[in-house]
Amino acid sequence: MNHIEYAVADGVATIRFNRPEKKNAITLEMYTAFTQALTQANADSEVRAVLITGAGDAFTSGNDIANFRDRSGREDGGGAEPFMLAIVNSEKPLIAAVNGVAIGVGATMLLHCDLVYASHKATIKMPFVSLGICSEFASSLTLPAVMGLQRATEMLLLAEPVSAQKAFEYGLVNAVCEPEQLYEVALSAAQRIAQQPQESVRATRAFLRDAQRLQHAQRLVEERRMITTLLNSPAARNAFDVFFSRRDNVQDTAV
Ligand code: COA
Repeated sequence: MNHIEYAVADGVATIRFNRPEKKNAITLEMYTAFTQALTQANADSEVRAVLITGAGDAFTSGNDIANFRDRSGREDGGGAEPFMLAIVNSEKPLIAAVNGVAIGVGATMLLHCDLVYASHKATIKMPFVSLGICSEFASSLTLPAVMGLQRATEMLLLAEPVSAQKAFEYGLVNAVCEPEQLYEVALSAAQRIAQQPQESVRATRAFLRDAQRLQHAQRLVEERRMITTLLNSPAARNAFDVFFSRRDNVQDTAV
């Protein structure tokens, strides 16, 4: 099965996480396939906006914890770092349709999207600290910038899950939708951007984002290096084992 789906219609490229049996957890191969899809969208003059969503009832549950546990590919960042840099440096607007849980990198990537729409069933969570690792994807910069330091601290240090409605109130989400309307709402926004004068879209995005791009790229590399170190810690190893062993305290420790 193709775990990253890519399709283009009416000026909008849709990239879909498609591993619903694992809540769209992202493997190293999926990072690479996503990066290729986004690179293709950026190179295609027909594509004027990119819609990102998930198959089934999840947006994505984040990095595949099996890969964290094996630490495969992590010493040099694996596929995650190019994935993050491709998103940060995307020239095409990114619109997220968050159809269910957005955890870990599934949550932090939203902070780099131009527009975020969420189903009222969606939950957003950044459980890095409870997993024995640390903030990633420059979320230590993007999260406080969007919602303030106190709320960002709550999400990152307490690993507090946030409902779609709360995420909307925090400024992380543009609108909360009925699940059956989510895709249409997000697609309609993507199509509206696709129909705008492209030079104006490009210039405005550059003015909105260019000042932060370099800073975000630097921070995500620093965070990724720290994660590489922390992945070897007893706390992280235990958290991953707990997740897979499904012990009684799995909810407290791993998510
Ligand atoms: N990595 C690897 N496998 C994952 C995963 C992840 N991030 N998220 C879910 N899965 C797998 C589960 O192990 C399970 O596999 P199995 O059917 O072979 O046992 C399957 O996906 C379904 O998940 P399950 O936990 O049974 O569904 P749920 O509805 O009870 O809970 C989540 C869904 C997403 C809340 C829960 O799976 C979860 O918290 N996942 C981990 C999220 C996380 O910590 N990500 C890392 C962020 S840094």
